[in-house]
Amino acid sequence: MVTLLAILAVSYLIGSIPTSIMAGKMLKGIDVRDFGSGNAGGTNAFRVLGWKAGLTVTLIDIVKGVIAAVSVVAFFREHPIGNFPDMNEVALRLLAGMCAVIGHVFTVFAGFKGGKGVSTAAGMLIGIAPVSMLIVVAIFLLTVYVSRYVSVASILAALAFPLIIAIRKYIFELGGGLDYYIRLFGSPLSFHDSLDYHLMIFGLIVALAILYTHRANIRRLLSGTENRLTFGRRA
Ligand code: G3P
Repeated sequence: MVTLLAILAVSYLIGSIPTSIMAGKMLKGIDVRDFGSGNAGGTNAFRVLGWKAGLTVTLIDIVKGVIAAVSVVAFFREHPIGNFPDMNEVALRLLAGMCAVIGHVFTVFAGFKGGKGVSTAAGMLIGIAPVSMLIVVAIFLLTVYVSRYVSVASILAALAFPLIIAIRKYIFELGGGLDYYIRLFGSPLSFHDSLDYHLMIFGLIVALAILYTHRANIRRLLSGTENRLTFGRRA
């Protein structure tokens, strides 16, 4: 139990690192939340601080999710405080990743007003399901390229992930049913214990959370006032 709490707390703290706010302070002495869309995320860093800062912030925010879902769990497996949690490995990694996302959105280091969780959620899922995320990233980039609306791309990508996992499960089940899971885990597992089951559930939760953090973007899209991706500082 103590190890589980430590995994969740450390993941939350890593997610809380307010990358875009730090970049704004270091590069221009400003709070990025006072400019552009007002969001403390990679997209707004692109707008307000330029593409180099935006890309760097986005990559670091992605890495926060990967570290929480992969490295933090691995570290505490090697160095447990008491017993290591007796729970499904994938669910544990997803929980740790979710804590990083919560930290990114509600950062303890910047008055609980952080970003929208997209990059960190992507990082968590890249660490756990990299091949499926290749398709998600392609959908994201294509949508940004075509529409210039990062918010639309984020929402579409978030909704696509659980759908891709569902399709993947369907294809694998056509190919061999439960044998797939038996081969994958080395012991017979029901669908409820499987990787895809957890990815689908957490993927849906992430998609709903992303819809929630984009509620202002959705309102702006509906009223035709959403920001398109442009570069350079603007109030
Ligand atoms: O990742 C956040 C993005 O989807 C929207 O950002 O700054 O346009 O609200 P922003």
